[in-house]
Amino acid sequence: MKVLPIYVYDHAILKKKAQKVEHVDESTKSFIEDMIHTMHNAEGIGLAANQVGSPLAITVIDISPVEGYESTKPFVMINPEITFYSEEESDYEEGCLSLPHVRELVIRPEAIQVSYYDQNINPQTIQADGLLARVMQHEIDHLNGIYFTERLSQLKRTLLQSKLRRISKGETSADYTIVLPDGSIISGDDIE
Ligand code: NI
Repeated sequence: MKVLPIYVYDHAILKKKAQKVEHVDESTKSFIEDMIHTMHNAEGIGLAANQVGSPLAITVIDISPVEGYESTKPFVMINPEITFYSEEESDYEEGCLSLPHVRELVIRPEAIQVSYYDQNINPQTIQADGLLARVMQHEIDHLNGIYFTERLSQLKRTLLQSKLRRISKGETSADYTIVLPDGSIISGDDIE
């Protein structure tokens, strides 16, 4: 398994809508393994394929490192679609591996239903709430080219602009390897 470099704001691939996966072969499976390894290496709880430079509609999620969620199983979601949103909303402080050191309270629907294919290409439908529903929404947003900061008020977004610009210039510190918008790579202390 490989640790893949993580693309950060404002790389063009992070604004592209992901392509539907049409078939899963050995290389797709090993890419998914690499995504999971990369997420764990960076101590993230979710990762979308475009964050590691792939156009495919794949996301991996593992919230088990979070206190209270230790028994939650990891998810691989291929071509996920949210088919239901609850009216009830909640807020929670989100972060993102593509936006190092940015953390903001984001309001989202508390519960969702998602249809997707798992890594064995079995169709699945899940009802999720709480942190799991939140991470799923955050990752599916990535597959639609949306950063969590776009879910904030216009005022909060304006206040974040200079911080985001610094990330895009590489004026940031991540302990994992990142790719800047111009394609340059800044190495972190990845464990292989
Ligand atoms: Ni993210």
